[in-house]
Amino acid sequence: MENRGNFATKLGIIAAVAGSAVGLGNIWRFPYLLGQNGGAAFFLVYLLCVVLMGIPVMMAEMSLGRMGGRNASGAFKALGRPKWSLLGKMGVLCAFLILGFYYVVAGWTLEYTFQAIKFDFIGQTPGDLADSFAAFSTHNIRPIVTAVAFMIITCLVVSFGVKKGIENSSRMLMPILFIFIIVLAIRSVTLPGAMEGLKFLFKPDFGKITADVVLSAMGQAFFSLSIGMGCLLTYGSYVKKDVNLENTSLQVVGVDTLVAVLAAIAIFPAVFSMGLDPGQGPQLVFVTLPHVFNQMPGGSIFAIIFFLLLVVTTLTSTISLLEVVTAYFGEEFNMKRGKASVLASALCVPLVVLASLSLGQLGHIQLFHCNIFDFLDKITSQIFMPLGGLLICIFVGWILPGKDLHESLSNKGKIKLRIWSVFYFLVRYVSPVVILLIFLGQFLR
Ligand code: TRP
Repeated sequence: MENRGNFATKLGIIAAVAGSAVGLGNIWRFPYLLGQNGGAAFFLVYLLCVVLMGIPVMMAEMSLGRMGGRNASGAFKALGRPKWSLLGKMGVLCAFLILGFYYVVAGWTLEYTFQAIKFDFIGQTPGDLADSFAAFSTHNIRPIVTAVAFMIITCLVVSFGVKKGIENSSRMLMPILFIFIIVLAIRSVTLPGAMEGLKFLFKPDFGKITADVVLSAMGQAFFSLSIGMGCLLTYGSYVKKDVNLENTSLQVVGVDTLVAVLAAIAIFPAVFSMGLDPGQGPQLVFVTLPHVFNQMPGGSIFAIIFFLLLVVTTLTSTISLLEVVTAYFGEEFNMKRGKASVLASALCVPLVVLASLSLGQLGHIQLFHCNIFDFLDKITSQIFMPLGGLLICIFVGWILPGKDLHESLSNKGKIKLRIWSVFYFLVRYVSPVVILLIFLGQFLR
């Protein structure tokens, strides 16, 4: 077999998978959905989804990838189930649709890095910050330029291949980001009136749990963990046999959840301290954090480094998304890596342009009561990914022989598995049933 490249070290694989998982999903999407869906109630349902579906699907998907040893679609053929490769193709399509809006928000992080470098936030009130975000994000050209710039950077990294490109960029910057969010969280909870924000986050009002809240929490769990569409399947195919995927999954889920929670602690106390609306939507982070920076000694330097780190974690996520398509084009159509990633990126451009314009000029175009941006977001996280997760559970739990799965996860008995029986039970019975019930819950309203 040709040399597909492998993640070189165990730390490398954890860093790469965590790099994929931790991104805008944690720092931008989780807080804004939490704000819109009733705070602590959403949080609680989210945590349940992570345990009942997130951990099992992540382990299942990565072991599937390692056993198949190919891209999301080819892996099923390699395992002798060519019909199932349709599931992989659905994942590839899903990667495109996600990139369509993810690059737009990624572009916003670039813009905010520039603004931080120019010290633009200084002296702006929360109202000014909201106005300037609205002016930028609804502009016809500026956000498209930053989104395409982000796309080009991603494409360059992916062209250079798995080991050099992905592993090195993930490994060092994560811990630094972590420390930065902790400092931000400390500043936020010490602002006047911060208590209200903490109550909003941690004191659940169970009356707020509706079918909609549950569906968005499940969607967010899939989105934040990068599961259900072949991304971790593709990464799994680069993982060596002796890596313990139990530990990798548990560690990555732990880190991802921690970053999301810390981001929420950095944001909500500040939101309530400023008297802002927690349910204001996608702009939440971009309006709140600059205000928090303004309240910190040395905040403008801190802001520059923070947004730079955000750009990097976002990049490790866009890399993993583009990798799904690149590996697919590369292996199934025999393309060189560079060509495959350029083609995949070029195909994303129209989607990115439409998604960005749908926040301004093209706002009147509605698909199922959503603008194009929200439509791409919802259809991927609330339909494609849970459906993909369901099918992955069925494949891994019911079609793959349990003996083969156990043999691969334990590397023929050389790795001691700690949660095998819980995992296998969840994958077979619990995760698929819960996903189905949440889907059905939509129709029973
Ligand atoms: N999980 C990433 C985040 O939270 C985004 C992401 C990367 C992703 N790869 C993915 C989402 C694959 C869905 C599927 O920002």
